[in-house]
Amino acid sequence: MYDADKIITGLIIFLCLITFPIYYNIATGKAAYRPEPKIVTEEKQCVESKGYMRAKHMDLLEEWRESVVREGKRVYVASDGKQYTMSLVDTCMRCHWNKAEFCDLCHNYVGIRLNCWSCHTLPKRD
Ligand code: HEC
Ligand code: HEC
Ligand code: HEC
Repeated sequence: MYDADKIITGLIIFLCLITFPIYYNIATGKAAYRPEPKIVTEEKQCVESKGYMRAKHMDLLEEWRESVVREGKRVYVASDGKQYTMSLVDTCMRCHWNKAEFCDLCHNYVGIRLNCWSCHTLPKRD
């Protein structure tokens, strides 16, 4: 003898388990959207690793500003030993000149607006 109720309950649980990833994706697919900032430079790498830049670029910029304005030091030695001039416009924006499709894309997504550009002027480029 077998117990039909138990088999059906078992089947339902089994179906839920195997289809869970599908429902889960449908439910969270939208939330998982992330902006894809466009990298236009020929250079292969940033000042620091991509992960570090993504998470910490604001701290790095703050550090650069402090160093230049407070200490008058303009040379940044990256963790790979490369040297960069600490400059928002002449360094960052020389590689990332497509501000609208790069910086702004992410910042619009998280809803922040930078006031930097009222003083730091980007050169015209076409
Ligand atoms: C020499 C060219 C160059 C300079 C200078 C440069 N970057 Fe980058 N940056 C890149 C490249 C190339 C990548 C993509 C790296 C990768 O894919 O590994 C990148 C990645 C990034 C990312 C991560 C983007 C993402 O999709 O997660 C941020 C944020 C960023 N840069 C900001 C800056 C800031 C701020 C500065 C100045 C402090 C700067 N970069 C200076 C070339 C540069
Ligand atoms: C991969 C997405 C991404 C890219 C690309 C990016 N940012 Fe950001 N940026 C962020 C996020 C997210 C924050 C907000 C962090 C927070 O508030 O915790 C931020 C914050 C900042 C801040 C601090 C603003 C404040 O009010 O505290 C500065 C400055 C900044 N970004 C500069 C830049 C510049 C310049 C570029 C282009 C060279 C750039 N970012 C590209 C995601 C990005
Ligand atoms: C009220 C005007 C003003 C605003 C707004 C401003 N800055 Fe600056 N910043 C300056 C001045 C002036 C210097 C000193 C320039 C020098 O000595 O080369 C400077 C220097 C810097 C430097 C180092 C040198 C250089 O040329 O880049 C960095 C990095 C910097 N600022 C980042 C930022 C960022 C990021 C923002 C926006 C979150 C910002 N600044 C907003 C005026 C401003």
